[in-house]
Amino acid sequence: MISILHRKTGTLPPRRLCIQVLRHNPADPASVPHLQPYEIEEAEGMTLFIALNEIRAAQDPSVQFDFVCRAGICGSCAMLIDGRPGLACRTLTRDLGTTITLAPLPFFELIGDLSVNTGKWMRGTAERLQTWIHDATPVAIDTLETPMDPDLAEAIYELDRCIECGCCIAGCGTAQMREDFVGAIGLNKIARFRLDPRDQRSDDDFYELIGDDDGVFGCMSLLGCHDVCPKQLPLQTQIAYLRRKMAVIGFSS
Ligand code: SF4
Ligand code: F3S
Ligand code: FES
Repeated sequence: MISILHRKTGTLPPRRLCIQVLRHNPADPASVPHLQPYEIEEAEGMTLFIALNEIRAAQDPSVQFDFVCRAGICGSCAMLIDGRPGLACRTLTRDLGTTITLAPLPFFELIGDLSVNTGKWMRGTAERLQTWIHDATPVAIDTLETPMDPDLAEAIYELDRCIECGCCIAGCGTAQMREDFVGAIGLNKIARFRLDPRDQRSDDDFYELIGDDDGVFGCMSLLGCHDVCPKQLPLQTQIAYLRRKMAVIGFSS
């Protein structure tokens, strides 16, 4: 009867979702990691971010997860969604089954439940790879910068779209085995500064930063990074290009 009714009206009844959250508080010695199920009714256009907020508001205020922008810009809501790294605010529940399992990103320090400290690792990697423009000639305040070729500016902008969500690291087998590996995000940043004509570092300088097994030669081309990057950065192309460049420098030095 219900199916006839819905066939006539063209609407389907809302699905009941079971959202299983991996709960654990590393600061509590008595805490044991376990999956906690929450049942909610799916709403039109519901994202995992909305679902988690509903769970926190109506069922369990103790569930920990991070978000800032809700628009795929800040990178803070990254988590494992049915085992795959992704952004909670950009994932529609209608694209998933009725049972959804959420877990924190691996590799990063766990704060609690789905919340991880990606910022600490991002800061450390930025300092290690010196991800800022190295310009030997200070520009006077009243001097205009030389305009950049639009195609080059576009290429740099493309790599600058990284939101530091950590999905590429969580999806990389090498990073799980080698804790000092800079990952696709680190290699992407080096590719970005190599392109920038304002950065006066030489290829040898970049080789010093990533010309080893913690850098570009540690990458085993597993390409999980490329598959899961929510900003669809051209990671595969950039890593392959850097590896060829750095191999030439390595042979000739
Ligand atoms: Fe996230 Fe992609 Fe940046 Fe990696 S490269 S941190 S997956 S946006
Ligand atoms: Fe890891 Fe991506 Fe290389 S998944 S091994 S950084 S191609
Ligand atoms: Fe900012 Fe999801 S809340 S990317």
